[in-house]
Amino acid sequence: MVDLILAGSSSIMLAVDVARRMGLDAIIPVVRKFPDGEIYVRITKAVEDKSVAVIHTLGGNPNDLLIEYLLVVKTLKDLGAKEVIAVIPYLAYARQDARFKEGEAVSARIIAELIESAGTSKVLTIDAHLHRIESIDKLFNIKALNVSAVPELAKYIAKNYSLRNPIVVGPDEESEQWAKVAAKVLNTDYIVLEKKRLGDEEVIIESSVDIVKNRDVVIVDDIISTGGTMVETIHKLKEANAGKILVSCIHPVLSANALNKILLAGAYDIVATDTIQSPVSKVTVSPVIAENLPKL
Ligand code: R5P
Repeated sequence: MVDLILAGSSSIMLAVDVARRMGLDAIIPVVRKFPDGEIYVRITKAVEDKSVAVIHTLGGNPNDLLIEYLLVVKTLKDLGAKEVIAVIPYLAYARQDARFKEGEAVSARIIAELIESAGTSKVLTIDAHLHRIESIDKLFNIKALNVSAVPELAKYIAKNYSLRNPIVVGPDEESEQWAKVAAKVLNTDYIVLEKKRLGDEEVIIESSVDIVKNRDVVIVDDIISTGGTMVETIHKLKEANAGKILVSCIHPVLSANALNKILLAGAYDIVATDTIQSPVSKVTVSPVIAENLPKL
């Protein structure tokens, strides 16, 4: 049972909202940077014998946020916390989940080990990018739960957009798990495309998308990073004379001017969740966390 929520600097509003939903207190530690770039953390509230859930995303500025997380957890344990539960809405580094080229670091595993070694007892995360790792249990040696925010995202879309004969499009093979759920909520069909990645920002899609002609489209993916995947998908859909194209994702990582690129490509709108705070984070994952945290 969780006694207390600690709001990491990357997820303050989300953590406060989860605490409110669960009827718990939220504590906000002092986090700042020294002039040389090192991070300072101070926890000023009593945590002794408490089971503390640290809500702290790793999206946006993953390296600093990871160090902050490690400092917070070690300090909570030093101050006598009974257990620390990590709530990491966006688990950074998960995309490098295999050694694609000889000599590469398998970052997903290394970061999971670091999170554990800091003293974390359990982990809750959302739509983790587990493409080559079968399940979250195969990544962490501690109890871990990976839950989905796609139903919340799709419910928001159903309620807020008037779509004509919509179809859901998953831009690559792995996105089928999300496209399928979104299509069910939107009470429609879905297709999944075949994507080849050529570089960090460049992908090609070769699938035929004739089925989208004169239909509004909801593209659903887990992450928008550079926007390359969404831009290429939009081009394909436009060539096939799709109607409105609504772009959605769980994790708006949004590097390299991604939002502008997607809008310029012709997206009608962009919707994401607040696993990472962004200008398009219109859907909160707070109910998903509040519902699943007690299950750990
Ligand atoms: C890839 O496996 C993911 O599901 C996303 O499609 C990908 O991370 C999107 O990246 P980008 O926006 O840079 O194309």
